[in-house]
Amino acid sequence: MNYHILTLFPDMVLNGLHTSIIGRAAEKGILSIEAIDIRDYSKDKHRHVDDAPYGGGAGMVMQPGPVCDSYEALCARLGKRPRVLYMTPQGRVFNQKIAEELAKEEDLVFLCGHYEGIDERALDRIVTDFLSIGDYVLTGGELPAMVMIDCISRLVPGVLNNEESAQTESFCDNLLEYPQYTRPEYYEGMRVPEVLLSGHHKNIEAWRRQQSLLRTWQRRPDLLKEAQLTKKDLEFLKALEEEKQGKNP
Ligand code: ADE
Repeated sequence: MNYHILTLFPDMVLNGLHTSIIGRAAEKGILSIEAIDIRDYSKDKHRHVDDAPYGGGAGMVMQPGPVCDSYEALCARLGKRPRVLYMTPQGRVFNQKIAEELAKEEDLVFLCGHYEGIDERALDRIVTDFLSIGDYVLTGGELPAMVMIDCISRLVPGVLNNEESAQTESFCDNLLEYPQYTRPEYYEGMRVPEVLLSGHHKNIEAWRRQQSLLRTWQRRPDLLKEAQLTKKDLEFLKALEEEKQGKNP
């Protein structure tokens, strides 16, 4: 996977991504991450890339020329026209399913806007996907790009080691992860659940499944609609509902 980030703040994305697991994968050559400074494509002697909006209003708008030229130079270098993901609160809300789809691409371009956004003509010309990380407004697209790159990268084969891969399932079946515990067995009067100390793998598996169901039911009941549930799971959830309604005191 090769990431190409079009940005006005190359250091911000490179510093953020060249650490921890993603940094390790980049060092191993499983991923490549390059930041392309849009300012390098300014034709202005002061390297300006923005101007006041036509029609008036607050703030500045990024001009179409440097944005399109930075992408075209990349395409010429690569010999192909990769997908361009524009980070915007007006986009489709990013989720695990979108990450899985994007992880199949060989090259991805992340376009990060600033100020009041980017001239619409540049977006019309080069953007293939409009993506948001949630219903709130940030100062720029760099953090959303980093969030998505982190999420996509852990799905790229070889990025996670075996132990880390085992943890990948948390959203696959639309259920939240069960709680985890480690030493010490007693902490400030709180005990690790007995079943986890039992060494009985079948019981542990069943307990974890129930904890996942319970958590999802309590915290994100909207996810249950899309979850793949067994007859046993449905019985467990029905019992939770009945208990809530006071049928099983
Ligand atoms: N740019 C500013 N806010 C954003 C958000 N919530 N998601 C993606 N890009 C953004």
